[in-house]
Amino acid sequence: MLKPGGHVFLASNTFLSQLVFTSLIEGGLEFRSIIIRLVQTLRGGDRPKNGEREYPYVSSLPRGRHEPWGLFRKPLPPGMTVSECLRKFGTGGLQRNYDGKPFGDVIESKRTPTYERRIAPHPSLKPQTYLRKLVHAVLPLGQGLILDPFMGSGSTVAAAEALGITCIGLEYNTEYYKMSLEAIPKLAVFDTAVWKKGVSTRPLL
Ligand SMILES: C[S@@+](CC[C@H](N)C(=O)[O-])C[C@H]1O[C@@H](n2cnc3c(N)ncnc32)[C@H](O)[C@@H]1O
Repeated sequence: MLKPGGHVFLASNTFLSQLVFTSLIEGGLEFRSIIIRLVQTLRGGDRPKNGEREYPYVSSLPRGRHEPWGLFRKPLPPGMTVSECLRKFGTGGLQRNYDGKPFGDVIESKRTPTYERRIAPHPSLKPQTYLRKLVHAVLPLGQGLILDPFMGSGSTVAAAEALGITCIGLEYNTEYYKMSLEAIPKLAVFDTAVWKKGVSTRPLL
């Protein structure tokens, strides 16, 4: 369903990324980059089990301080340039930030705020501030349709809604789906004016 030149963001972690990224590449998508979401995770940093006193200065695994998100693109038709793809399909690139700077591959983030988790108590809820950056970037001309095939509580749909972008979400867990119906409108309006004011120097297209 993805248009040629369309982009895919894939949430991951350091263990799984090598497997799922490879699968998407074997499935025909181009690997474009890894977006580092800087966030302290609960993984790693521990001393060796049952050897904590013996090896107090050893960690068996680095303490997780980021989430790697894969960025992929459906290949452009042979010989087509990005400019031609933008003209024909409205895809091929990423939209720059509101301040005109390029979308970067490191994004400062925090754990999802408590008030968002109260609205949408899904175990892997992502913060609106972070998702809004992605949904803004993924449509280079600000036009088109986003699909989140694993929407959970609908946080991506809400982020798109907040920016006036249409997004379709799919979720097979009935409980999460019902949660999303209530959560999307609440997450979408939350802090929208403040957020846009903070990052925006030009109006949305
Ligand atoms: C990591 S969570 C998404 C969390 C979401 N980003 C949020 O912030 O709430 C992935 C979701 O995909 C759903 N899921 C897994 N397999 C699915 C499938 N085949 N079709 C639709 N949803 C699926 C799970 O039930 C889960 O809620």
